[in-house]
Amino acid sequence: MPIHFPPLVAPSVLSADFSRMAEEVAAVERAGADWLHLDVMDGHFVPNLSFGPQLIKALRPQSGLVFDVHLMIAPVDPYLEMFAQAGADHIHVHIEAGPHTHRTLQHIRALGVKPGIALCPATPAEAIGEVLDLVDVILVMTVNPGFGGQKFLTSQLDKIRTLRRMAEATGRDIRIGVDGGVDVQTAALATEAGADMLVAGTSVYGQPDYERAIAGLRGAARRPV
Ligand code: DX5
Ligand code: ZN
Repeated sequence: MPIHFPPLVAPSVLSADFSRMAEEVAAVERAGADWLHLDVMDGHFVPNLSFGPQLIKALRPQSGLVFDVHLMIAPVDPYLEMFAQAGADHIHVHIEAGPHTHRTLQHIRALGVKPGIALCPATPAEAIGEVLDLVDVILVMTVNPGFGGQKFLTSQLDKIRTLRRMAEATGRDIRIGVDGGVDVQTAALATEAGADMLVAGTSVYGQPDYERAIAGLRGAARRPV
C-alpha cells in the first residue's frame, strides 16, 4: 500500500489554551486540521499529567474531527472501554506500556475503534513487528513522551524508514505518524523518511494563525525518497 500524500495534520490540544478548549478545537477544525490529537498522561508511564476521558467526552459532540487518542498510561487495559465510550476514533497504546499489547490491540478493534501502536525513541522498529497486522496507525515518538515543545530527535528518521518498509510489506494500509517536535523543517524530514501523518502541538497552537500553520506543515511535506 503506497504512502499517502500530502500527509494528514493532527494538532495536539496539549498546547491549546485549556481554559477555552472547545473553542480551540473548533478553531483547528475551521483551519483545516485532519485529525485532533488528544494526549492522555497518567504521571506514571510519563512524568506528566494531562486529562482523561471526561474531557474527550465533553468535546465529542462539539467536533466532527477524527479523535486520535494517544494513551501514555500504564496499565492501559482497564481504561480502553472508557475512551471508546468517550468518542475516540483511534486509540494509540505504547508498546512499552505492558506485556500484552497483542490482546490490547484486539480489544481496541473489538470496541469499534481503530488501533494504533506508539513507540518511544529508545524502542527499535522491530519491537512492533508482531503486532503490525493489528494496527491502522504507527505513532513514532520523535521526542520522549510527556511534554510538548521538545526538540525533534533526528535519530528517529532511520526508524521511520524501517517502519515504512515493514508497513508496506504487510500489504495493509497503515499510516505512519510522527509525534514530537514537528515543525516545517522536521515535517520535511519525517515525510521524506516515510511518515504520512504529522502530530503538531506547538507548531499549530503556538502560532497566531492556525490555518497558516496547518497549511504550512502540509506544504512542507516531501515525497519519500
Ligand atoms: C508528547 C505528546 C505530543 C505533544 C507534541 O508526549 O505525545 O503529542 O503534544 O507536542 P509538540 O508538537 O509541541 O512537540
Ligand atoms: Zn501525542
